[in-house]
Amino acid sequence: MENQECTPNAYSQGRPSALIREPKLIDQLNLPLPLELSLPPSSDDLQTFTDKIVNGNCEEVLKQLPDQCVDLIVTSPPYADQRKSTYGGIAPDAYVQWFMPKAEQFFRVLKPTGSFILNIKERVVDGERHTYVMELVLEMRRQGWLWTEEYIWFKKNSHPGKWPNRFRDNWEHLFHFTRTKKFRMFQDNVMVPVGDWAQSRLRNLSETDKRRDNSRVGSGFGKKISNWVGREMVYPSNVIHMATECYNRSHSATFPVALPEWFIRLFTEEGDLVLDPFNGSGTTCVAAIQQNRHFLGIDTSAEYCKIALERVTKEYIKKNEFFKS
Ligand SMILES: C[S@@+](CC[C@H](N)C(=O)[O-])C[C@H]1O[C@@H](n2cnc3c(N)ncnc32)[C@H](O)[C@@H]1O
Repeated sequence: MENQECTPNAYSQGRPSALIREPKLIDQLNLPLPLELSLPPSSDDLQTFTDKIVNGNCEEVLKQLPDQCVDLIVTSPPYADQRKSTYGGIAPDAYVQWFMPKAEQFFRVLKPTGSFILNIKERVVDGERHTYVMELVLEMRRQGWLWTEEYIWFKKNSHPGKWPNRFRDNWEHLFHFTRTKKFRMFQDNVMVPVGDWAQSRLRNLSETDKRRDNSRVGSGFGKKISNWVGREMVYPSNVIHMATECYNRSHSATFPVALPEWFIRLFTEEGDLVLDPFNGSGTTCVAAIQQNRHFLGIDTSAEYCKIALERVTKEYIKKNEFFKS
């Protein structure tokens, strides 16, 4: 689909929306520009795409962006064939071929210090898990990406069910790809309360617990359990426990806002640019605004762009209320 540019007026008349966070939109509402109160403006080249929802194919839209301008990409692309009835599926056998030219653009626009979080899940085809996700990871590595980490999104509220040959899907992959080993990561931003573990595990320390026990496989992991005595906050694991959310019935696969928010806090600082190339209802953009980051959301569906525009506008209004109070 061609990119479409339209003004907030066109949007309010019900036509598809492309570019948002026009100063004009905010002016119409008689609001100051909340983000600009706290964020430095982006460079001129980027201005056209900063804090915008763009209605178009991400592969084409991203070609208009300069190299190395994005700090974080968080996204959930359409799953293979899965949701054909809502936003068009890609046949599992063609998935990697479909994805890779887009990944090439992601690689080009991402800063060498940036991160790319890809939420995806294998579907079942003819009674077995299809291998397109595994093939995608291998192809991403051939394209130059480092498969730095894999987080698991454990869905706390998935529905029970019964299948003849497996149990219910309760988790999804969150692949962490980077361009280099020296990417930015702000681990202290996602610390969690130490919890009950401390009560039992730290009460009786063995001799090994008091020494640093370095990983022998070069993973970079090492532990000295006694370091954690008396601490209230610790680093989380790579399993993220979050309930699914449905912002709007018209979009069937939304993230919970807390999911992109977690990665935004972990991998970016205020004023950084966060991209969601498969933006859907704009959850990543909402999280970016809440965290005082710039955003760019791209989606082929004008309908979803409208939903994203509504959500983002509401978020600006909330933020403005906050600044006024
Ligand atoms: C799984 S949904 C994203 C949901 C999103 N995380 C949210 O919270 O609403 C995938 C989205 O990708 C969009 N899409 C599919 N192909 C695209 C493409 N080539 N470029 C941009 N968006 C695309 C679909 O319209 C759909 O809204």
